[in-house]
Amino acid sequence: MGERDGAEIFRAENLTRRYRDGGRDVLALDGIDIRLERGQRLGIVGESGSGKSTLVRLLAGLDRPTSGRVWFDGTEITDLPEKRLGFLRASVQMVFQDPRSSLNPRMRVGEIITEPLRSRLVRRQLADGVDHARRLAEVLAAVDLPPDAGTRYPHEFSGGQRQRIAIARALAPHPEVLIADEPVSALDVSVRAQVLNLLTDLVAARGLTLVVVSHDLLVVRHLCDQLAVMRSGRIVERGETSEVYSHPQTDYTRTLLDSVPRIRTSGR
Ligand SMILES: Nc1ncnc2c1ncn2[C@@H]1O[C@H](COP(=O)(O)OP(=O)(O)OP(=O)(O)O)[C@@H](O)[C@H]1O
Ligand SMILES: [Mg+2]
Repeated sequence: MGERDGAEIFRAENLTRRYRDGGRDVLALDGIDIRLERGQRLGIVGESGSGKSTLVRLLAGLDRPTSGRVWFDGTEITDLPEKRLGFLRASVQMVFQDPRSSLNPRMRVGEIITEPLRSRLVRRQLADGVDHARRLAEVLAAVDLPPDAGTRYPHEFSGGQRQRIAIARALAPHPEVLIADEPVSALDVSVRAQVLNLLTDLVAARGLTLVVVSHDLLVVRHLCDQLAVMRSGRIVERGETSEVYSHPQTDYTRTLLDSVPRIRTSGR
């Protein structure tokens, strides 16, 4: 546990995000209040289109709210220009669902992983002289990829290995927060548990704050101590994962929980 655990890391107040989709007006977020403390592991679940990805993109500063306010580590980021978001770009990293589309196929894995370190905004934040080769070796080892992986291309790896590459890239700037949006949904069922276990170990070893979006409640149960349930752009339930599981407060949550396949207790 980090010494600053318990301090507020994210806060959002009355967040809304409206999209124009063709001629249609979509209210993707409809007045979200949320607070997250350093060291917490928050799972966000909810039906498709409920606003999960929109919410985490706003927290990561990858998108702007239509109204409402967002703070990271005590600084309001709502309207900060990109050039002043360096502290956020260095501290918050994302892992997306499909490593096939999130990794540039024409770049070597080593370039992909060290790319965040080369961004001017991030470079200004990091202590001088991060040794890229050393950092690459460190994060490759952390995700259990061979030392020579950096010289190869993404297509030379399996789906599970490609997601490890995406995780290594996210770890490269030594972030405080990892946000993973459906991190194992695109992977073969056979490798999902390995990647989840890897994430669990990394979060514990590095004292990361974690936000995981998933439609799969087994995933968040595995990774998260906190749970937020979203529906139609709102958070309809929020609490300790075990508490929400044992005492769901809404029929909606109960239905989501009931749709979870029974946990296998034999084999694997
Ligand atoms: N860039 C966009 N342009 C237009 N509409 C969008 C955009 N992004 C999201 N939306 C709409 O906003 C709503 C919420 O989308 P969001 O992607 O946040 O949902 P989600 O909970 O992540 O869903 P899923 O589980 O399918 O990933 C949906 O109605 C979606 O169609
Ligand atoms: Mg989504």
